[in-house]
Amino acid sequence: MYTQAELKKLVNKAILNLSYNEEAEKLNDPVKYILSIGGKRLRPVLALMACNLFNDKIDDAVIPATGLEVFHNFTLVHDDIMDHAPVRRNLPTVHSKWNLNQAVLSGDVMAFIANECFLQTPAHCMSKVFRVFNKAAIEVCVGQQLDIDFEKAAIVSHEEYLRMIELKTAVLLAASAKIGAIIGGCDDREADLLYEFGRNLGLAFQIQDDLLDIYGDVKVFGKILGGDIISNKKTYLLVKALEIASVEQAKQLHKQFALKEFDPEIKVKTVVELYNQMNIKNISENLANNYINTAFSLLDNLGVINERKTELADIASSLIGRDN
Ligand code: IPE
Ligand code: IPE
Ligand code: MG
Ligand code: MG
Ligand code: MG
Repeated sequence: MYTQAELKKLVNKAILNLSYNEEAEKLNDPVKYILSIGGKRLRPVLALMACNLFNDKIDDAVIPATGLEVFHNFTLVHDDIMDHAPVRRNLPTVHSKWNLNQAVLSGDVMAFIANECFLQTPAHCMSKVFRVFNKAAIEVCVGQQLDIDFEKAAIVSHEEYLRMIELKTAVLLAASAKIGAIIGGCDDREADLLYEFGRNLGLAFQIQDDLLDIYGDVKVFGKILGGDIISNKKTYLLVKALEIASVEQAKQLHKQFALKEFDPEIKVKTVVELYNQMNIKNISENLANNYINTAFSLLDNLGVINERKTELADIASSLIGRDN
């Protein structure tokens, strides 16, 4: 069985070997930049682990798995434009380092470089894999649209929030696990189970990301803290807080999120104090834990010997309490 570290190395090597159309030099600089400044490589590693569950040979999955990482990085470049984020992975975001047009276009080309990777899937399962990927890719866009729409919505329900993060984040982890498993030679029932496993991991993962946006260590998290509060994002923390707040607390929260002009530091501090009064950190951690536990029980139900599942189980537990 491959370890997480070995898989990450394989992916990083494949990223270095990606081929580019070099006719317009500037187009590729931001692509190479965003792909070279770190990142956990969670999606390709998940795909390769899922492949390795069913097959000792994972070579066929390395390039499609790399496609998942390239696609993910494309979504980050455009997400940072939409979220006005200045920093990612402790370095300037693409639109801050270059400019908006450069970030849009370099993001676009990454989506098609990802397609090139999927075209290298073995022929017998290429269309199946491509369908899973493309469906997830469209869903990510839908989720990102909901994320933006929700900035302006006064109230977002628990269910609406969960659907939004399912689309913007969880479906790509789900598709990654399913794609790896398909290339590894699993049957349809196993492919669906791996999808469900990845979906639950993804829900936990985004709730943890929402938590880190406030409670993370800025140097390790690599993004500015409080960004979600500054841009009025409907995170799990805010949705839950508005659900359980007293009349007075709700009034104060609504007031902060209605401010047209504000000192970002004061807004973040005021909102975090309200979250702390309501024990929102614990409540959010519990929900993320529930999703991880569901992911574990799905893995238990998979008819593969337990020793083959350890790497996936380890990565699932590491997502909770992670600090970046
Ligand atoms: C960030 O994804 C975007 C979310 C879905 C929360 P990651 O936390 O996987 O980012 P990198 O690739 O490790 O930087
Ligand atoms: C990102 O959600 C989801 C996608 C990139 C599709 P966030 O906006 O919370 O991600 P970060 O925190 O900027 O990485
Ligand atoms: Mg976003
Ligand atoms: Mg963002
Ligand atoms: Mg975030």
